[in-house]
Amino acid sequence: MDQTTTAVSAGIRIRAGEERDLEQLTDLYNHYVTSTPITFDIEPVHPRDRRPWLAGHPDTGRHRLLVAEEADTVLGYATSSPLRPKQAYETSVETSIYLAPGHGGRGLGSRLYRALFEALAGEDVHRAYAAITLPNEASLRLHERFGFRPAGIHREVGRKFGAYWDVAWMEKALPEDGLPAAARP
Ligand SMILES: CC(C)(COP(=O)(O)OP(=O)(O)OC[C@H]1O[C@@H](n2cnc3c(N)ncnc32)[C@H](O)[C@@H]1OP(=O)(O)O)[C@@H](O)C(=O)NCCC(=O)NCCS
Repeated sequence: MDQTTTAVSAGIRIRAGEERDLEQLTDLYNHYVTSTPITFDIEPVHPRDRRPWLAGHPDTGRHRLLVAEEADTVLGYATSSPLRPKQAYETSVETSIYLAPGHGGRGLGSRLYRALFEALAGEDVHRAYAAITLPNEASLRLHERFGFRPAGIHREVGRKFGAYWDVAWMEKALPEDGLPAAARP
């Protein structure tokens, strides 16, 4: 058992996100919408507006939603989502991850990402990308830990709270052997 596993409470369960999580997932996300530049949404979202997002992350396929739950409380979630709409991009996903305030720094993000990449291991996904508004040391380190490498910085690409923000893109090769899932023996 590694240090990360021991640091996170055994009562925390990682599972696919469901309809009943929508309110808590929305509250969690809105915390980052209203008080940080981590996401470039500016107005809080309503749970009903997140239904298509939820439906777009079923428990099979490339686009997943995993939640970390303890005693019916959602402590965080991780997603893999379409990178861009045009079809040739379909083997690339954008991943993102949000923990409830106060739950960072004890291995929960690593647990969620480990589960997400395990879930994607059997899928036809070739690259994962993360867009990280700078500065965000915790996110940069989490992504490095999971094999993401720097893929360039978009300078001052977003404006929020009256300031322009840089976004670092990070890229991870999937699966590890570099072959499409369909081509693996
Ligand atoms: C980013 C986030 C998901 C990381 O999850 P976490 O549970 O805190 O991360 P872990 O405890 O698993 O640690 C992963 C790495 O991040 C580092 N880390 C965690 N919190 C940190 C902090 N506050 N400052 C610096 N590094 C930090 C750990 O030391 C570890 O680094 P290592 O691999 O070099 O040892 C979490 O901090 C979070 O939800 N932040 C707010 C939302 C956010 O920024 N999401 C990402 C958007 S791109």
